[in-house]
Amino acid sequence: MKIFIDSANVKEIEKWLSYGIVDGVTTNPSIMLKDGVNNIEEGIKKIAGLIDPLPLSAEVTTNDPKEMVEQARRLAALSPNVIVKIPAENEFGVPTYGVINQLENSGIKVNATAIMSFGQIMLCAKAGATYVSLFAGRIADEGGNSPEVIAETVEWLERWEFKSQLIVGSIRSVGDIVNAALAGAHIITIPPQYLSKMADHKYTRETVREFIADAKSSLKLMGQSKL
Ligand code: E4P
Repeated sequence: MKIFIDSANVKEIEKWLSYGIVDGVTTNPSIMLKDGVNNIEEGIKKIAGLIDPLPLSAEVTTNDPKEMVEQARRLAALSPNVIVKIPAENEFGVPTYGVINQLENSGIKVNATAIMSFGQIMLCAKAGATYVSLFAGRIADEGGNSPEVIAETVEWLERWEFKSQLIVGSIRSVGDIVNAALAGAHIITIPPQYLSKMADHKYTRETVREFIADAKSSLKLMGQSKL
C-alpha cells in the first residue's frame, strides 16, 4: 500500500519524504490556498522537482471540458511527474469522462477526483483514469459507509484488471486511515497533521522515558561498582 501526502506545504513534504514513507503528493486548489501557494504553476514546479520521480497530483480549475484539456496539457508540461486531477463531473453535473479518456489516450496521466460513489468510480475506470480518488470523509459526512465502498471498489478494479489505482482521500482522522488501509485501499493520501497523530502514542513516549531513566540508573550503579 502506498501513502501520499495531501499537502502543498513544502516543509511538511520534505520532512515526511526524508522519513522514507511518502510515495507521492496530492494537492487541490483549496490545499494550495490554505498552504499559501498562490502562484499555482510555480508551486507545482517546486513540489514536483522536490519529489521527482514520485507523482504529484495537481487539479484543473475550470468547469469547461475544453479548457480542462488545455489546462491539463499545461500542468502536465510543467514536469514529467505531474498527474492531472480531473473532477468526475463539473459543478453543473456535466460528466468529464471524455476529458479523462482524451488525456489518457494522449499520454497524460489522470487522477479522477472528487469521487463520492462506486458508480462514479466504475465510469472513471472505464474512461481509463490512472488513479481514482474517493473522498472518504465527505462520503461519511453524508452518512455513507466509506470502508464498504473502498473494499467493493478494490475488489471490482482487481477482478476486472483495470489499471486504475484507488486513492482514498478526504481523511478526517487516524481512524479513517486505519479503516481505509484495512478495507484494501491501494493508496491513502494523508494530510500531514494526521501523519503526526498516527506517529505518536503517549504510552510509547512514557515507555521510552522509563527505559532511558533506567539506563541512566544502570550507568550510575556501574560507576559506583568497584569491579
Ligand atoms: C484528495 O486528493 C483531496 O485533495 C482531498 O483529500 C480532499 O479532502 P477534503 O474533503 O478534506 O477537501
